[in-house]
Amino acid sequence: MAFAIKMGFLLVTSSLMAVAAVSSSSFAVETSSSSSSSSCVGDPGMKRDGLRVAFEAWNFCNEVGTEAPSMGSPRAADCFRLSSSKTNKLNGGGYNIHHKVTDADNRLGVGKSFPGLNPKALDDPDLYAAEKELYLGSLCQVVENATNPWQFWMIMLKNGNYDTTSGLCPENGKKVAPFPPGRFPCFGDGCMNQPILAHQPTSITWSGTGSAKSAVSDSVPVMRGGFNGTYDDSNATSVSYFEVTWEKSVGIGSWEFNHKLKTSKRYPWLMLYLRADATKGFSGGYHYDTRGMLNTLPESPNFKVRLSLDVKKGGGPKSQFYLIDMGSCWKNNGDPCDGDVLTDITRYSEMIINPEIPAWCSPSALENCPPYHITPNDTKIYRNNTASFPYGAYHYYCAPGNARHLEKPYSTCDPYSNPQAQELVQLLPHPIWGEYGYPTKKGEGWVGDAKTWELDVGGLSSRLYFYQDPGSKDAKRIWTSLDVGTEIFVSNKDEEAEWSLSDFDVIIT
Ligand SMILES: *[C@@H]1O[C@H](CO)[C@@H](O)[C@H](O)[C@H]1NC(C)=O
Ligand SMILES: *[C@@H]1O[C@H](CO)[C@@H](O)[C@H](O)[C@H]1NC(C)=O
Ligand SMILES: *[C@@H]1O[C@H](CO)[C@@H](O)[C@H](O)[C@H]1NC(C)=O
Ligand SMILES: *[C@@H]1O[C@H](CO)[C@@H](O)[C@H](O)[C@H]1NC(C)=O
Ligand SMILES: *[C@@H]1O[C@H](CO)[C@@H](O)[C@H](O)[C@H]1NC(C)=O
Repeated sequence: MAFAIKMGFLLVTSSLMAVAAVSSSSFAVETSSSSSSSSCVGDPGMKRDGLRVAFEAWNFCNEVGTEAPSMGSPRAADCFRLSSSKTNKLNGGGYNIHHKVTDADNRLGVGKSFPGLNPKALDDPDLYAAEKELYLGSLCQVVENATNPWQFWMIMLKNGNYDTTSGLCPENGKKVAPFPPGRFPCFGDGCMNQPILAHQPTSITWSGTGSAKSAVSDSVPVMRGGFNGTYDDSNATSVSYFEVTWEKSVGIGSWEFNHKLKTSKRYPWLMLYLRADATKGFSGGYHYDTRGMLNTLPESPNFKVRLSLDVKKGGGPKSQFYLIDMGSCWKNNGDPCDGDVLTDITRYSEMIINPEIPAWCSPSALENCPPYHITPNDTKIYRNNTASFPYGAYHYYCAPGNARHLEKPYSTCDPYSNPQAQELVQLLPHPIWGEYGYPTKKGEGWVGDAKTWELDVGGLSSRLYFYQDPGSKDAKRIWTSLDVGTEIFVSNKDEEAEWSLSDFDVIIT
């Protein structure tokens, strides 16, 4: 049922008087949230009625590989303008949703041209997807301020299967020969496929489900839409599933993004995130120009992230739920990335809130710890200082595979799952993070503990250890991706996670 639902303008009228209270003018055009000049996102707090959201699916090395039959390139978007018609003025007006992206746009795939497409990308699924993202961005772009246009929130879905006999993924950015299976999940040929994707274009109705926090009353029109799908074919007995739906009452509150992710026997390692990516340049994990929501790039230490998170199902003991995941890119000599996959390094830091995820970093496993910890008062504590080092605050640290001056002992990050080398600093709730508004104890923010967070992501990330060559100038810690979601690793059964996210904002402090 991919993209099966008819795209179009849905006119909803009603005789309810209540809507007059919602829209003060008969033209409720794109209620732009009181734009706070200090916000880095185009839609501060997800309050804008005229939604901009996109979808992308990645294989193990953040590429496409091969498109799924009749699905097109795995990039899609749902962007619209909301208006209310004058003709029904007495009754408060009927609302119109004017979609900016058509079903045909979303189905674009290799071999089909579109405005601006580089002919070299026409038949290359990887290049094509990158250019399709730019094209969808051009359709969705909002230019409120001539200096910093923005495009969309990005839903990112990734399949952790890796067919090592395919030779598809580079090793720390270097092309390598195929190698025997065993180290990564893969059921055989086709395990790195792209998903079947269905789209319910945003529409508007007068009946609230009552599930949207913002739906104060059934007499307020509610907008709803979603993307969903699976990696499995219909024959499978264990079927993977992903779903992101969005819902908002007109003129009130925040969009609520409801996520579901389920793994299956053949797809035991899946990731689903909602990202605020840079509106241009290389976002975390990409090596090509992207589009997104961060119209100003936040730089450590001066920014905070505000969001509301309600985790309903955790996804099992291997679900590395990221309250916040931040991604950027800089070279080991401190220079910003330039697209050269041999020297660019993706840098990630993630706070994992699943209380079942243990600290791999410990006094007896120093290779899983960063070389040192920096306290809020800027004191360095080396990891061999067993009396003071906060081992429980680190799930896992791994160094870039191409770092040349690592302090022993060390472990290096998986060299295949990014287009270039990567570095990971994975955190766990711990009292030492309290200063930054992060969870301080296991279970905080987890199932049954829905919360609105104000995280000093800038302050914390300014004090994390990231590898650089000795003597090099400190890299500017400018973040191109901030996201929330989960990565469910291989476990011995099908796992399911469910959560909702709203009020997302990134604020310069
Ligand atoms: C628009 O851009 C100007 C100049 O860059 C900036 O000073 C102003 O804060 C921006 N306004 C908004 C609403 O982003
Ligand atoms: C997507 O969700 C709709 C219900 O909204 C369902 O009918 C459909 O089967 C789902 N599609 C896939 C591919 O899972
Ligand atoms: C589903 O199973 C049937 C019968 O076993 C088989 O012929 C068909 O190719 C399968 N479909 C897919 C998509 O694998
Ligand atoms: C920094 O804070 C720690 C406690 O977190 C304290 O033990 C230490 O004395 C402080 N150092 C300075 C220089 O203030
Ligand atoms: C601890 O590690 C630091 C930094 O690597 C080193 O200078 C110091 O000698 C080590 N101390 C001990 C007791 O091993």
